[in-house]
Amino acid sequence: MNKKTILLTGANGEIGHTLLEDLTNHGHSVIAIDLHPLSPEHESLCEEVIVGNILDEDVIRAAEKHDIHEIYHLAALLSTSAERNPELGHRVNVEGTLNFLQLAYRLGKRMGEPVKFLFPSTIAVFGIASLDDKMRIGKVSEEDCLMPMTMYGVNKLYNEHLGRYYSELYKRLSPETETGFIDFRGVRFPGLISAFTVPTGGTSDFAPEMIHSAAQHKPYTCFVRPDAQIPFMAMPDGVRALVELAAAPAENLTRRIYNIGAFAPSAAEIADIVRKAFPDTIITFSPDEKRQGIIDSWPADVDDSAARNDWGWKPQYDLERTFNEYLLPNITKMYS
Ligand SMILES: NC(=O)c1ccc[n+]([C@@H]2O[C@H](COP(=O)([O-])OP(=O)(O)OC[C@H]3O[C@@H](n4cnc5c(N)ncnc54)[C@H](O)[C@@H]3O)[C@@H](O)[C@H]2O)c1
Repeated sequence: MNKKTILLTGANGEIGHTLLEDLTNHGHSVIAIDLHPLSPEHESLCEEVIVGNILDEDVIRAAEKHDIHEIYHLAALLSTSAERNPELGHRVNVEGTLNFLQLAYRLGKRMGEPVKFLFPSTIAVFGIASLDDKMRIGKVSEEDCLMPMTMYGVNKLYNEHLGRYYSELYKRLSPETETGFIDFRGVRFPGLISAFTVPTGGTSDFAPEMIHSAAQHKPYTCFVRPDAQIPFMAMPDGVRALVELAAAPAENLTRRIYNIGAFAPSAAEIADIVRKAFPDTIITFSPDEKRQGIIDSWPADVDDSAARNDWGWKPQYDLERTFNEYLLPNITKMYS
């Protein structure tokens, strides 16, 4: 594989850590951006770490010194956090993304080749009006039910359109050709479950929280009903999806944004699996009506046939393997 210079925003986050390790293991040179400093181990993997806000011009200028071939733009305010402060969510999620699309455009023009822009979208772009509708609809395709019910979902759906606009339509009235400098590609992640971090700020956090609490022998009160169902994925599959989409030949891609799925258990099924592994665990359900409402508006599962057909997407971890081979050994080691 050719060594590339890759810009990674949100490098200090859940996905950022795993992606940073993966990209540098493959010999790429990574420029990392995050609000918070990276650990010395993660910092040592990077060519440069820029600590700062993606809304800050100085941060963009520092990144622009490099010839960057790919941008993985992960920095964002997640669903629960953005819903608690919608205006900040909009600034970080939309204006922040716009800054990096503009950076990609300038870099692509300067280097005379398109910069690949990898975007982590989400199932929060979907919005289903009632639980009955959700159960009746089942798997949603990319174009179904695009009526987001959170600021985060609104931001991400708009960003998907911004990516398409910058790639295909940018300044379309200009006498010069201004398109073709960005190659925007994205996946809509389900809830991601990591063995190494306890997430904060996501509405799908009940699954990882349940597992991490049990491993620490702490009781857990789940904030959704036992029948609550949304799709989930193991972190290694999520990171692999982004990297494989980046590597896919452009001529194979029939769309810019892809659904990706792996497994879609109910909260009760997750609790059962956790209880089997940690028999002393105490899991109770005390649904928070408002957070439950958000989960109910997200699809029970996704149709990811376009990703499978176009770039060979296939999850390697089903629920059982995620639990037995990824979560259980790593989490047990971490808390022992
Ligand atoms: N984790 C999931 O289940 C999931 C699901 C769907 C989509 N996503 C998307 O994947 C991306 C990464 O998610 P994650 O789970 O790693 O989130 P995270 O919250 O763990 O990481 C986000 C990182 O971005 C940084 N950040 C936030 N605001 C910033 C700013 N203004 N300037 C600079 N850095 C800033 C944070 O410090 C953090 O390190 C996000 O765009 C998220 O929307 C995640």
